Amino acid sequence: MKLSHACGALIIAWCVVLGCVQAVTLEVKEGDSTCIEAQLSASFSITYNTSSSTRTVQVPLPDSATVDPGSSSCGTDGSSLPWLVAVFGSGNALGLSFTTNGSLYSVANLTLQYNLSDSSTFPEANSSDVVTLALASVGIWAPINTTYRCMSATPFRVGEATVTFSDMKLEAYMPENDLSPTESICMADQASTAAPPTTASTTTTVAPAPTPAGTPERGSYSIKNRNGTDCLLAQMGLQLNVSYFSLSQNKTIQEITNLTPNLTSSSGSCEASSATLVLTQEQTTVLNFTFTLNSTTNKYHLSGINLLASWSDMPAPLLASNTSLNYLRSTLGRSYMCNAEQTLAVVPTFSLNTFKLQVQPFGVTTNQFATAEECQMDQDQMLIPIIVGAALAGLVLIVLIAYLIGRKRSHAGYQTI
Ligand SMILES: *[C@@H]1O[C@H](CO)[C@@H](O)[C@H](O)[C@H]1NC(C)=O
Ligand SMILES: *[C@@H]1O[C@H](CO)[C@@H](O)[C@H](O)[C@H]1NC(C)=O
Ligand SMILES: *[C@@H]1O[C@H](CO)[C@@H](O)[C@H](O)[C@H]1NC(C)=O
Ligand SMILES: *[C@@H]1O[C@H](CO)[C@@H](O)[C@H](O)[C@H]1NC(C)=O
Ligand SMILES: *[C@@H]1O[C@H](CO)[C@@H](O)[C@H](O)[C@H]1NC(C)=O
Ligand SMILES: *[C@@H]1O[C@H](CO)[C@@H](O)[C@H](O)[C@H]1NC(C)=O
Ligand SMILES: *[C@@H]1O[C@H](CO)[C@@H](O)[C@H](O)[C@H]1NC(C)=O
Ligand SMILES: *[C@@H]1O[C@H](CO)[C@@H](O)[C@H](O)[C@H]1NC(C)=O
Ligand SMILES: *[C@@H]1O[C@H](CO)[C@@H](O)[C@H](O)[C@H]1NC(C)=O
Ligand SMILES: *[C@@H]1O[C@H](CO)[C@@H](O)[C@H](O)[C@H]1NC(C)=O
Ligand SMILES: *[C@@H]1O[C@H](CO)[C@@H](O)[C@H](O)[C@H]1NC(C)=O
Ligand SMILES: *[C@@H]1O[C@H](CO)[C@@H](O)[C@H](O)[C@H]1NC(C)=O
Repeated sequence: MKLSHACGALIIAWCVVLGCVQAVTLEVKEGDSTCIEAQLSASFSITYNTSSSTRTVQVPLPDSATVDPGSSSCGTDGSSLPWLVAVFGSGNALGLSFTTNGSLYSVANLTLQYNLSDSSTFPEANSSDVVTLALASVGIWAPINTTYRCMSATPFRVGEATVTFSDMKLEAYMPENDLSPTESICMADQASTAAPPTTASTTTTVAPAPTPAGTPERGSYSIKNRNGTDCLLAQMGLQLNVSYFSLSQNKTIQEITNLTPNLTSSSGSCEASSATLVLTQEQTTVLNFTFTLNSTTNKYHLSGINLLASWSDMPAPLLASNTSLNYLRSTLGRSYMCNAEQTLAVVPTFSLNTFKLQVQPFGVTTNQFATAEECQMDQDQMLIPIIVGAALAGLVLIVLIAYLIGRKRSHAGYQTI
């Protein structure tokens, strides 16, 4: 009993640390035809009372979750709305009910039920109730005959709990047994902050995607302050790794593409404790880097990356942004250097590979890089020739000693004759 608790706690802790939420496929059927399908990962953050205080646990939707045919329904008899109810563990459930007005469908309510008597999931709960929470306006909607897609992690506050969906594909009122190929991409996944989910059939841009991969060419970029002196210097080869729905290929693809330096212009700003470098390639790719200086510790780091890509093959421009990064850490008065390839993960659908990178966002004097602090990977790579050299030297020494000993022996043998 104790052991299983410990294991449960361990798995949950591991899930919290590594975000091990699995994708689950859930289908509601009537006869042979599917009316609701959801492919998603979900995790629940649940706060409950113990006898002395409150506690919060993270519970992932396990891949053993199944659709409960008793409470789920396609809603075709008109007595209730289409409803998907997934059950897991003992007495836990996640429910999504749907409504439509003929041209759009939406999630009418989101319900979460959990069983506090399950002491391995809810240790020390002072209640054994089965708690049911509901959220009425969820804001998940899409045109009928399209699949709602949201790869970004999207949290929903449901009473004392938070339900976070990610890698989500969802459709109700399905015309076929499979998810419709046309996708409606949620706002978190797409560029414009004001536009509603756009169907994948509307093309909003015409410009071509940047040049395809290979090792990217190294570009030199700089920003000048009002005095006309450089305040930020950067030299790097940049490769974008973007996953998006391709209109021409009719599926989500992983695109690896390089920034071409002579087609890229740089702009930006230098402030006392933050500096921004904006690289723009042919108006279709805008890449923002934000560096932050901590003036107490005199350390700086790359704190934000922001990509706006409007490629012709995309249903809508893609905006990927993360402002809580901690990359390229160095010290004021030094530059940061990394010759080795480095991968900067930004969001699940976008990462940036850097090659032969050197940057200095603060404290640039005389328009030149200051002494560099090298990344760990470069230092490790410099160790390899040293280790190989040392090993070779050792080998030579052993051979030499063996030869000398052998020579002495045969010499001695010769003398006794
Ligand atoms: C915890 O207990 C307080 C006081 O009895 C109550 O108001 C609150 O709703 C309880 N919270 C939960 C999550 O049960
Ligand atoms: C559970 O604990 C809270 C305080 O944390 C208390 O207010 C509540 O009455 C307790 N509930 C039960 C059923 O003991
Ligand atoms: C959510 O929707 C289902 C299905 O229509 C319904 O049975 C349930 O009562 C609803 N729950 C809430 C809290 O509105
Ligand atoms: C809640 O969990 C307890 C213990 O695991 C179980 O006996 C009970 O049947 C569960 N309640 C429901 C509604 O499933
Ligand atoms: C459905 O709702 C949307 C948004 O509220 C509206 O634009 C559309 O005209 C409605 N369609 C019908 C058939 O009522
Ligand atoms: C959805 O697709 C079905 C079958 O392809 C079709 O009969 C129906 O008219 C479509 N509905 C809309 C609103 O496009
Ligand atoms: C411009 O140069 C002057 C003197 O060289 C310096 O004091 C001032 O801070 C500089 N201004 C900016 C915006 O860097
Ligand atoms: C691109 O990103 C995907 C998903 O994160 C990863 O599997 C793949 O290895 C990356 N490719 C390159 C060339 O970085
Ligand atoms: C897109 O692909 C699906 C299968 O994945 C296919 O059924 C559909 O016809 C394709 N649509 C277009 C416009 O090619
Ligand atoms: C960019 O550089 C490539 C090769 O270095 C060259 O072929 C091309 O003409 C250049 N384009 C522009 C716009 O300068
Ligand atoms: C600077 O770093 C110190 C120590 O790591 C930290 O306590 C402080 O909050 C940081 N200041 C800013 C503005 O981030
Ligand atoms: C990049 O940064 C600049 C200046 O901070 C800002 O005006 C611009 O909107 C940003 N671009 C993107 C794509 O975020």
